[in-house]
Amino acid sequence: MKITFYGHASLGITVDDVNILVDPFITGNEKASHINIETLEADYILVTHAHQDHILDVEAIAKRTGAVVISNYEIVGYYEKLGIEGHPMNHGGQWDFEFGNVKYVNAIHTSSFPNGSYGGQPGGFVIEGEHKNVYIAGDTALTFDMKLIPMQTTLDLAILPIGDNFTMGIDDAILASDFIECDKILGYHFDTFGYIEIDHEVAKRKFFQKNKDLMLLGIGDYIEL
Ligand code: NI
Ligand code: MN
Repeated sequence: MKITFYGHASLGITVDDVNILVDPFITGNEKASHINIETLEADYILVTHAHQDHILDVEAIAKRTGAVVISNYEIVGYYEKLGIEGHPMNHGGQWDFEFGNVKYVNAIHTSSFPNGSYGGQPGGFVIEGEHKNVYIAGDTALTFDMKLIPMQTTLDLAILPIGDNFTMGIDDAILASDFIECDKILGYHFDTFGYIEIDHEVAKRKFFQKNKDLMLLGIGDYIEL
């Protein structure tokens, strides 16, 4: 499994030869101006919630690639009206896709579309791939519901928001790491705009002091699990 950071909360995940994008917000992120969405491959696009900073490039990429949008019922309905294929889910449900099992899990946040219309309830994804298991938290507060995840899935990596203000910050993300029983964390949802700027060294040190590993990738960089 290869995971590429495209800035903010945008990820590319490759499982074998299947390409998955998560929450593509690239053309609106000046820090990601070196990423060309025309060259991104996608078989599936996972969308955690309907906020602009998670959906901005979904329509353009899905229409070019024919990718299937996987999200909550309301978001998938929105894209189906635009002629985009989707797979609707809701909280607590899981489905076996060709790249692995996906469960849509709780997040504490909101989920309106940029025009104010209803975007369902926000969520995160637990992906059980053939060899590796990953939790993508989406935008969320720290919540006890995270403790449900390790009851069913042993995580190899968790991708957690760490930018504070709109989501968990560093200290809550460390507690989340305890709740999900995963000490290997990829941080996201930081630095994109003023409210969520963080000190990288302080963040890494705080995780290190709890015997945890916080990875922060440059935009366009990737890790392999
Ligand atoms: Ni949001
Ligand atoms: Mn966000």
